[in-house]
Amino acid sequence: MSTAKKEYKRITTNSLVEMKGNGHKIAMLTAYDYTMAKIIDRAGIDVILVGDSASNVMAGHETTLPITLDEMIYHASAVIRAVERSLVVVDLPFGSYQGNSKSALESAIKIMKCSGGHAVKLEGGSEIRESVSRILTAGIPVMGHLGLTPQSIYKFGTYTVRAKEIEEAAKLKEDALLLESLGCFAIVLEKVPAKLAKEVAESLRIPVIGIGAGNGVDGQVLVTHDMLGMTHEFNPRFLRRYVDLFSEMTTAFKRYIADVKSLDFPNEKEQY
Ligand code: KIV
Repeated sequence: MSTAKKEYKRITTNSLVEMKGNGHKIAMLTAYDYTMAKIIDRAGIDVILVGDSASNVMAGHETTLPITLDEMIYHASAVIRAVERSLVVVDLPFGSYQGNSKSALESAIKIMKCSGGHAVKLEGGSEIRESVSRILTAGIPVMGHLGLTPQSIYKFGTYTVRAKEIEEAAKLKEDALLLESLGCFAIVLEKVPAKLAKEVAESLRIPVIGIGAGNGVDGQVLVTHDMLGMTHEFNPRFLRRYVDLFSEMTTAFKRYIADVKSLDFPNEKEQY
């Protein structure tokens, strides 16, 4: 059922559950710095994810594994300073929550205290139930992440679609129900068959945000640098590019270089 669109001055975890209840889709994008977060927030995005994809996009690592808690806090603090309306969710990086629930809670508290983020996201299901529960008992909102979980890439071996087989799909459905029952406010489903993602979304009260999970879910997330066409080497089927900034920026840089070399820049009006 879709009702008239409610205007939210500030998005909270409750707003997202309400949006799902009203049949309104949730739009989420990543940001890792002040300037990008400001543009995205003012454009009206519902959720900004300070993703550990910063490890790839910002730092050039091959995987998300190397990024540290302190680096995530640096990125999240910059985003928080820019944001007026969006809910800001911060990824707990690899190694900061898998060990035991006490260190998971310490990591989540550090993120919340030092960055001012509004919620944390963790990858995994039943394996991390204790960590999720303990973080929630401290009053920190948790977003789950199932399907392709890039922090486990060395276990999977590839970035191909997950949960195509019955057994893995059944475990994913169980994990989604578990995360909801523990108290998560939303779940990201990455790179799973659209039919499965729709079933999961329909079985939950909390929103399911998809990336490569079809449009039967409650919202979508993309990595901003990918949808802006800044990253040319990454071409999954689910990625829609809204602009080719790689080419646009290359043209601008080339013009600047040429202007400097030809003494065209700065001209008389551009100096003191
Ligand atoms: O780190 C990230 O950007 C993510 C999204 C792909 C969901 O987790």
